[in-house]
Amino acid sequence: MHAMSPDQETRNRVIVALDVETRAEAAELVSELGGRAGAFKIGLQLFTSAGPDVVREIVTVGHRVFLDLKFHDIPNTAAKAAIEAARLGVWMLNLHALGGRAMMTAVADEVARTCENEGIDRPLLIGVTALTSSDAASLSEVGLNSNVEEQVSALARLAAASGMDGVVASAREVPGIRRAVEDQSFLTITPGIRSEFATADDQKRVTTIREAFANGSDYVVVGRPIIRANDRVAALESLIDEAGSTN
Ligand code: C5P
Repeated sequence: MHAMSPDQETRNRVIVALDVETRAEAAELVSELGGRAGAFKIGLQLFTSAGPDVVREIVTVGHRVFLDLKFHDIPNTAAKAAIEAARLGVWMLNLHALGGRAMMTAVADEVARTCENEGIDRPLLIGVTALTSSDAASLSEVGLNSNVEEQVSALARLAAASGMDGVVASAREVPGIRRAVEDQSFLTITPGIRSEFATADDQKRVTTIREAFANGSDYVVVGRPIIRANDRVAALESLIDEAGSTN
């Protein structure tokens, strides 16, 4: 990390969400933004339409892939799914921390064992705390009545105790997570990033990239502000510039 320029270090911390319909659109984004971003995120939309081949394709050309399928199932099923993700060669994958300790522990143990046996790099395992599209009102409607910040910190602490390498949360919650989790290398990945001038779309707990990094986020995830821009390279570059002003 030390030999890296500040610019490269910033880029490595930006994950572009490939929230598009087809493999062809994803391939176009990857070839445009390849070298300029730190990783690509494949989520439910693209995975459902294009399947695991799109993951293999992007891994094969040498990019880091964050598989954002937010597993939440019984421990055995979640662990088996996570093993298949590891076999695809993903760099990072996630599961809902609300799936609980037994689910997260099973995933952590079984992925580590399989990777060791099969000589695969172990992917980073990330717990999802509360979606950045949720707020106190929508969490309360599903029976989660503590305030958002407390909820996120409690789930982060549980995720850390259950073998996760980090959590997804809004950048607003990162300082609370740092206080709640002893291990300061515990990663925080923050979506809901908007430039000072952009619309929030359906995100409720948004921050700018500067605030995210200033709060201690390790990685930011950015989708629509880049992939829906007319000039996607320019949109990514202006985001990197916005972040760079914290260096
Ligand atoms: O377009 P936008 O920048 O809002 O995209 C954010 C991405 O991060 C989406 O792919 C969304 O699925 C994902 N995400 C999120 N909140 C989480 C976890 C993932 O917005 N807690």
